[in-house]
Amino acid sequence: MVERNAHSMGIFGRKSLFCLFSITSVLFMLSWSYVLRSAGRPHLNIVPNSKLLALADDGNSRSRTHRDGDIPTLSKSRKKFNLFKCNPSNQLLKVFMYDLPPQFHFELLGWKAEGKTVWPDIRSTVPQYPGGLNLQHSIEYWLTLDLLSSEFADNLNGRTAIRVRNSSEADVIFVPFFSSISYNRFSRLKPHQKRRSMNTLLQEKLVAFLTAQEEWKRSGGKDHIIMAHHPNSLLDARVKLWPAMYILSDFGRYPPSVANVEKDIIAPYKHVIRNYDNDTSDFVTRPILLYFQGAIYRKYGGFIRQELFYMLKDEKDVHFSFGSVQKDGIKQATEGMHSSKFCLNIAGDTPSSNRLFDAIASHCVPVIISDEIELPYEDVLDYSGFCIFVPTSEALKEKFLINLIRSIDKEEWTRMWTRLKEVENLFEYRHPSKDNDAVQMIWQAIARKVPAVNLKLHKSWRFYRTPWRERGLKSALLPKIFQ
Ligand SMILES: *[C@@H]1O[C@H](CO)[C@@H](O)[C@H](O)[C@H]1NC(C)=O
Ligand SMILES: *[C@@H]1O[C@H](CO)[C@@H](O)[C@H](O)[C@H]1NC(C)=O
Repeated sequence: MVERNAHSMGIFGRKSLFCLFSITSVLFMLSWSYVLRSAGRPHLNIVPNSKLLALADDGNSRSRTHRDGDIPTLSKSRKKFNLFKCNPSNQLLKVFMYDLPPQFHFELLGWKAEGKTVWPDIRSTVPQYPGGLNLQHSIEYWLTLDLLSSEFADNLNGRTAIRVRNSSEADVIFVPFFSSISYNRFSRLKPHQKRRSMNTLLQEKLVAFLTAQEEWKRSGGKDHIIMAHHPNSLLDARVKLWPAMYILSDFGRYPPSVANVEKDIIAPYKHVIRNYDNDTSDFVTRPILLYFQGAIYRKYGGFIRQELFYMLKDEKDVHFSFGSVQKDGIKQATEGMHSSKFCLNIAGDTPSSNRLFDAIASHCVPVIISDEIELPYEDVLDYSGFCIFVPTSEALKEKFLINLIRSIDKEEWTRMWTRLKEVENLFEYRHPSKDNDAVQMIWQAIARKVPAVNLKLHKSWRFYRTPWRERGLKSALLPKIFQ
């Protein structure tokens, strides 16, 4: 008994000692933190607030790092996030646009800057984009016009994005290089250009410009938006600027490490044939069952087109002809698509083409044979409601395609035709942009990527922004750009 008591006493004694120690520790820590607090806020900022850095940056640490001097990019790296991600429905996407020299954008359209102005005054005149097939890839023009006009807008109703002048307040950084027209118009060598075309030179200049910007350095480019809608645009610079979010027509000519559906945005082509306004046609009054007009390519795609041609050429209500849509061709194709129930989209030398968007504008139900195709805003839009997808392997089976198309009855077709009329506006480019048209839909698609971009940025800042880093210590762990 005695022994046992002594034993329990011992336990009690140890317990109370531990208790006493704990209380002392707590008191000690409280007083220590009081000392810290009175010693000045910047120190406190480093530790307890670190979790909130992204949301609540009060700029205190900025001035301090400026003084250190040896890590100049750090100060700017504290990007101020607005609450966009918490409230996507009524927050605008804040876009900072570089004032790139006019040779990168409107001068490529023939506009001449007066004096030191960078941008045309679009309140008086809007420079025209070259017409014809150039227009297919004109997204660079429409997005830039929308940003420019956001500054003069009386009200922001219907707008997704606004231009902000302070990059620290922006969700994304927009690079207004008109890469598609640069490729279409300026990639051929002129006699006086010995080795490099204007298109190549502009890309070199762009890479030099971007990698020297504070905005690029703080993010490594991850929050930058670069447009390269023509499959051959940005051919030289794409492998150097890939951390950015690209806006593309498809991924056909990109290695997955440089561009992919997680990181990048697919934008529609601007259709080149006329809209079918006041379309009162129906299943019966569209005489052509299946319509295809396109080129034969020698590369991948040509084979499928030829096979399908031989399979379909004797079907009397099928229009299948080769030839690209040029001048007269546009008028012909407009008539053809407006008179057809179904329009074929076959992979060419790239998985996508403007034909799909021509078909949508014509309310001609698209039949898509392109296994690698990626479609605009497919995360919010179900294409199966107004398109028919056929795997290439099936389409190449004798009679499969024609039997499938013939099996779709009036009711089913009319449902898809009605849906086409509902969605066609999502693919319209125009200025001023409005009502969830292509311009707004692309900004919205970008806005949906912002949280993923922020996740990547925060991860890349883990080591970069820790207290020891703020004291100017360097580490081999850091991405090269921060060293
Ligand atoms: C830009 O925004 C940041 C964060 O809101 C602010 O601290 C800074 O002073 C602003 N810069 C200018 C030039 O207004
Ligand atoms: C379509 O209908 C509207 C209203 O009825 C009319 O104003 C417009 O001119 C028509 N468009 C065409 C291309 O016929």
